[in-house]
Amino acid sequence: MLEKVDELHKEIADYQVKSIEDVESFRIHFLGAKNGLVSALFNEFKNVPNDQKKVFGQKLNALKKFANERLQELKNSFEEQQILQGSPEDLTLPGIALPLGSRHPISLVKNEIVSIFKKIGFSISEGNEIEDDWHNFTALNLPEEHPARDMQDTFFVQTNPDWMLRTHTSSVQIRHMEKTEVPIRTISPGRVFRNEAISARAHCIFHQIEGLYIDENVSFADLKQTLLYFVQEFFGKESRIRLRPSYFPFTEPSAEVDVYWGLETEADYRITKGTGWLEIMGCGMVDPNVLKNVNIDPEKYSGFAFGMGLERIAMLKYQIDDLRKFFENDTRFLEQFKGAF
Ligand code: PHE
Repeated sequence: MLEKVDELHKEIADYQVKSIEDVESFRIHFLGAKNGLVSALFNEFKNVPNDQKKVFGQKLNALKKFANERLQELKNSFEEQQILQGSPEDLTLPGIALPLGSRHPISLVKNEIVSIFKKIGFSISEGNEIEDDWHNFTALNLPEEHPARDMQDTFFVQTNPDWMLRTHTSSVQIRHMEKTEVPIRTISPGRVFRNEAISARAHCIFHQIEGLYIDENVSFADLKQTLLYFVQEFFGKESRIRLRPSYFPFTEPSAEVDVYWGLETEADYRITKGTGWLEIMGCGMVDPNVLKNVNIDPEKYSGFAFGMGLERIAMLKYQIDDLRKFFENDTRFLEQFKGAF
């Protein structure tokens, strides 16, 4: 019986094939489940005397392994030959390209702004889209009945009047200040919600990035310089900014930031209403009341904050005239941002 195994081993090693069909014959001849010679030997296992079973079994398994390896080898050699000789398929034809998606312009702008602030040491903080009254309003120096609450028309959660969809990402900054030690340097990108009529210039859902910097001796000059750095990184080294006094309950003093857009074309006149300047964000020195609300000592520390709408920035950067386009997901619009990162 043991000799039979050796004979078969030799037969397998010497087996010659000329075509891919021969390879299949090889398989059936030796490894076919019913009449294959190797398989047949397995059936004889029961007739082997007990004291030889161990050696026989080992040899048999080795034989089967060898036969399988040889089969694979023969197959491979034919496949290689086929490729060399020119297979029925033309392997040089270009493949079928999968359609590539593109990043949404809002994501592009967000990523760029985030990386600009990261370079000067700002961390990124994110929070919940459903907020409570304290984080969205009260802690930001907007107590109940404060008229400035009307500046941001709010969607409330019906089942709990203390909850709402956040109207700005300033709420994230309150959360961040509550759990982080000063010095704080962070930006909060995110989606925000306001109950506004949808038009070319407004939507009830939009995106913001707000920034916050708190430390000893932070001054308005630091704020101005940080914003100038940002605008020049984002819009180009030649860009100029100007600050106009404004009002936000959470900052004092407060300002609105304009960037100089130019007055070269007719479109420039239209976009800037004939002034050449475009408003891009709000900012100011964090109101001492806000610092008190999150247990930061306003005698010791000061800080600045700013906030901008990403849709507005993206509209300027890519010259998009209707904000609704960001939300329609029309592929003809989105495809234009292919390849941008
Ligand atoms: N939270 C303000 C808004 O949504 C923007 C802002 C942030 C203004 C920080 C000043 C300082 O309109």
